[in-house]
Amino acid sequence: MISVAMFLACLYPVFLWIGLGLTGGLTANPPEYLIRSSGEWALVALYLVLLATPLSRYGRVALLLTHRRMLGLFAYFYLVLHLLGWALWEQGFVLTAMWHDVLTRWFITVGVVAFVLLTPLAFTSTNGWMRRLGRRWKRLHYAIYPAIGLSIWHFWLVRAGKNDFFEVWVYVALVLLLCVPRLIRSRRLNQGVRPERGIK
Ligand code: HEM
Repeated sequence: MISVAMFLACLYPVFLWIGLGLTGGLTANPPEYLIRSSGEWALVALYLVLLATPLSRYGRVALLLTHRRMLGLFAYFYLVLHLLGWALWEQGFVLTAMWHDVLTRWFITVGVVAFVLLTPLAFTSTNGWMRRLGRRWKRLHYAIYPAIGLSIWHFWLVRAGKNDFFEVWVYVALVLLLCVPRLIRSRRLNQGVRPERGIK
């Protein structure tokens, strides 16, 4: 039941777009709105994946942790929509034009590298792949960190054109908040310091 609710919650952006589409609320430029919105929702889902562990460890709420795979796959789903939106509405699915864009617009290059990094993570998220890859699975899935770094860079480059960085800084602050304690903790564990009581 909770998983169904979580699944429906992850589909919220799709319901939102349909609702806006039916009521004429997709702004004056629907393709641009949809490309941007899918990019933002992909980023939100990636952040929820990062939030899963601290929320369970410090807040004792395991909801995100138990649905981490679903969240990761939804992040990838919104990214695929984001990419398809760009390919269809900006490039008309013309491969040479797409290739030219990847090579000439820096923010597209950075976005594509992030997408490429996340692709093996999405495809190896099953139990079968976890078993097959063993310890290497965890190492492979550390790619989420550079992918998020590149996503923020991509976001920053998009907003640089409009000189509007407020949201980007919010994402930077959040990623620091989520990752710095994690780094400190793993360094302490590497140095042999036992974790505090009650924290596994
Ligand atoms: C992990 C990968 C990616 C993430 C998280 C991401 C996220 C975002 C975000 C948050 C925005 C800004 C939305 C806004 O301004 O409100 C954006 C814009 C955009 N992204 Fe991505 N993106 C990624 C990869 C890509 C890729 C692979 C492409 C195309 C090849 C792409 C094409 C675009 C375009 C065309 C825009 C709109 C630019 C504009 O309106 O000027 N993104 N993306």
